[in-house]
Amino acid sequence: SQSQQMRLVTFSLDEQIRRVIVAIQPQWSARNIRFKLNLKTVRLLADQDQLNQVWTNILGNSIKFSKDGGVINVSIKQDIKSVTVRISDTGIGISLEDQKRIFERFFKADRSHSRKYGGSGMGLAIVKQIVSLHEGDIRVESEPGQGTTVIVTLPITTPPD
Ligand SMILES: Nc1ncnc2c1ncn2[C@@H]1O[C@H](COP(=O)(O)OP(=O)(O)OP(=O)(O)O)[C@@H](O)[C@H]1O
Ligand SMILES: [Mg+2]
Repeated sequence: SQSQQMRLVTFSLDEQIRRVIVAIQPQWSARNIRFKLNLKTVRLLADQDQLNQVWTNILGNSIKFSKDGGVINVSIKQDIKSVTVRISDTGIGISLEDQKRIFERFFKADRSHSRKYGGSGMGLAIVKQIVSLHEGDIRVESEPGQGTTVIVTLPITTPPD
């Protein structure tokens, strides 16, 4: 069953995201990429390691596909029953056609550039699977040449304190 694959613990989502940003500092600081954070305090009952992987990949993508000196906005918004994390970059963007396919295994947009950026195209497929296990939702909004926003919504299964 799904629950057998998950180790649910209560933890602070905003703290987790801050920690991930610190952990991947080698990917962004030398390129002068900056983060603007608007993180509400949210406690969540979820698989901590799996969600760590989610933010690591989404934020890693935002960095990888940003220009040097770019800004990445990360926000957390809490609802009654859910929490929404938005990760927004001002990078190369994704065409409408490719937006439909980025959650497929091994899919990488724009083959001519894939050598430059590296990666296996597995990240978002794994992310989507983890979000689904948590009964959440993930979607993307993007404009080629303008940037990309990835929006993750997760149900809050623990009462706020
Ligand atoms: N923020 C983004 N900006 C532009 N393109 C993106 C962004 N995020 C994902 N993509 C596109 O979606 C593709 C799939 O992303 P995914 O994370 O699954 O793979 P990857 O980053 O290429 O490889 P991996 O995550 O396995 O190292 C990317 O190769 C890229 O073409
Ligand atoms: Mg990736």
